[in-house]
Amino acid sequence: PGVVVGVDIGGTKVLAGVVGADGRVTSTARRTTPGRRVVTSQVEDALVEAIVESAGDRELVGVGVAAAGFVDSAGERVMFAPHLPWQGEPLRDLLEQRLGCPVLLDNDANCAARAEAHHGAARGASSALMITMGTGIGGAVLLDGRVLRGANGMAGEFGHMQVVPGGRPCECGRSGCWEQYSSGNALVRDARALMVEQPSVLAEMSEGHPDRVTGPMVTTAAEAGDLVARAAFASVGDWLGVGTANLVAALDPEVVVIGGGVSAAGDRLLDPARTALQRTLVGVGHRVVPRLVGAELGPEAGMVGAALLVADRAAQPLR
Ligand code: BGC
Ligand code: NA
Ligand code: ZN
Repeated sequence: PGVVVGVDIGGTKVLAGVVGADGRVTSTARRTTPGRRVVTSQVEDALVEAIVESAGDRELVGVGVAAAGFVDSAGERVMFAPHLPWQGEPLRDLLEQRLGCPVLLDNDANCAARAEAHHGAARGASSALMITMGTGIGGAVLLDGRVLRGANGMAGEFGHMQVVPGGRPCECGRSGCWEQYSSGNALVRDARALMVEQPSVLAEMSEGHPDRVTGPMVTTAAEAGDLVARAAFASVGDWLGVGTANLVAALDPEVVVIGGGVSAAGDRLLDPARTALQRTLVGVGHRVVPRLVGAELGPEAGMVGAALLVADRAAQPLR
């Protein structure tokens, strides 16, 4: 009997795993994302290696890919990806040729949302928002367990809503995007800026090179009580709540699920976000404020949701 593999490719890493019909992950493999200024085949090589390693000597029945970019409505191409070199890349066909099995493709946050709807924090919700915080911010709108795709497959690009006119430049080519203020990259940027002004264990952890600070380092430092790391989380969390308030004003969901690597920090991220949501949401005191919760599948949600694409081929997306 063969296996179904889900693979999640983000701006920094590739995570592949064998996923059972119950959503359980049995073996995983990782690669580093080669970057944004490489030839596209190098990114595909990393994907194929992680997929093949996770399957071992078992036959591949199908592969689902969760990609950090804009996937067309046919699920064939990555049209654009701020953190990856793909522009119109026919990823599904390329991977089918290399792997010799059916491949299904969707946006990473859409996949995470599907996994949380099946097996996690959005189970049973009639409407939910998924917000993933990794290199950037990913988003998805769930209605009755189905992901809203929009006219071209590109609904839910919350990370590129402009929140600061003339603000920080974004990898998408515009500026002031939400993900420049609330994401793994934003967390690291904020921590680097603060650590040159205040004492911080991050100086030791990065051996005096602020440019060596990583997201996981900031999380570890915050756990250890470091004030710089905690301030960075407070800022990123506050921005998370402000952006969420705008989305809630537009969509009035039952629950908002926060996933992605940064969400591993739990309440250190979610508490300031809840406070900011209460402060900035229109009509507070006269409405139900949705629950803001961490993804139950954590950083594996995208991978599990990618595998669900294979299992659930019949489950039509909401257009
Ligand atoms: C991309 C999204 C992706 C998100 C999270 C954003 O910059 O535009 O497509 O879902 O990052 O990876
Ligand atoms: Na999305
Ligand atoms: Zn942007």
